[in-house]
Amino acid sequence: MRKRTRVTHLPDVVVPPDNRPLVAPIYQTVKFSFDDVGETQRFWTGQRDGFYYSRESNPTLRQLELALAELQGRDACLLTGSGVAAIAVALLGLLKAGDHVVHFAELYPPTRTLVRRLLGRYGVVSTMLSVSDEKGLERTLAATPTRLVILESPTNPALKIVDLARVTELARSHGALTLLDNTLAGLHNHGEFDVDVFVHSLTKFASGHGDVMGGAVIGRREVIDRLRGDAINLGPTLDPHAAWLILRSLKTYFLRWDAQCASARRVAEFLATRPEVSRVRYPGLPGDPGHALAGRQMDGCGAIVTFDLVAGLEAGSRFAESLELFSIAASLGSTESLVVAPAMHAPRGLTAEQAAWTDIGPGAVRLSIGIEDVDDLLNDLRQALERVGS
Ligand SMILES: Cc1ncc(COP(=O)(O)O)c(C=O)c1O
Repeated sequence: MRKRTRVTHLPDVVVPPDNRPLVAPIYQTVKFSFDDVGETQRFWTGQRDGFYYSRESNPTLRQLELALAELQGRDACLLTGSGVAAIAVALLGLLKAGDHVVHFAELYPPTRTLVRRLLGRYGVVSTMLSVSDEKGLERTLAATPTRLVILESPTNPALKIVDLARVTELARSHGALTLLDNTLAGLHNHGEFDVDVFVHSLTKFASGHGDVMGGAVIGRREVIDRLRGDAINLGPTLDPHAAWLILRSLKTYFLRWDAQCASARRVAEFLATRPEVSRVRYPGLPGDPGHALAGRQMDGCGAIVTFDLVAGLEAGSRFAESLELFSIAASLGSTESLVVAPAMHAPRGLTAEQAAWTDIGPGAVRLSIGIEDVDDLLNDLRQALERVGS
């Protein structure tokens, strides 16, 4: 073999089967070959196991899929390149023209936009309610045959807790499927509820270090297999290197989650004592409207704390800019603390009535708590609050 050929046909290194690496390698390859055409055809027709093309499957992705499905308490998972891609694949795969969807004003805004703008163009009809309006949900499901109810709990950023036992039972009794964006609750929560499809942004707690994006759709095998058939043709694949980074981060998932929840609770308790703050929302606080429900439904209340500044919208920007340890940035659930100022989450695409349902006032600040020393975070919050005053 000449050198020009050798560089494209590299020497094989065979690791003996009884000599395993402790960390699985990254299968950073697009293609997998079989020894002959017959075996390739046997693979295509489902008569043998294997891998062929990484848009369809890849061993590194498979390992992450198995781990995530088990964490979420289901038997199958489909990975995507981002959280919104997971939401899009789930919605496109579950819905068809003429279907009716119930969604909520409190949902992550791109989900609402996907339902109304993109799926609306393909003949899907939708009703938007508030997640607090259980009676409205009951009335809507009774009046209109519904294919899908799209949920989030806790909601972002108002941190409302949805009664998942009640709502999933209500949907099931009316023949509707449920999809739960479980990103804020984490991968280990809510598996015991009768949710048909979970979606996650792996960009948040799963990867946890703010350096990789990903998404997951998790559910029963027959549902996920059907969605996978469409996803292969849509092509929102996760790259093997990103999957490997997320696998690496999973090892510290519970350490980070527990530390972030504990610090978030300390931050919420601290903010509740401050005169500059009119209201703190954190389901871990005994006075929070979702406290009892979160205590029953969740293991840890998450890393997000939302609070209202007495001094309102403009003070919110000054407050965020005065913080030294919190970066003004999107996203959540990473090792570093982040702040979203009130001016950054003005409701988009909602009527005044729907915006009121979200319960996000002009002074609402969202914090995502990282793994820094919590006393440093409290000192930073204290000095920034003193600057804006009440
Ligand atoms: C609740 C929720 N779902 C989905 C997403 C989208 O995730 P990604 O940014 O990975 O596409 C986000 C991002 O902020 C989110 O907060």
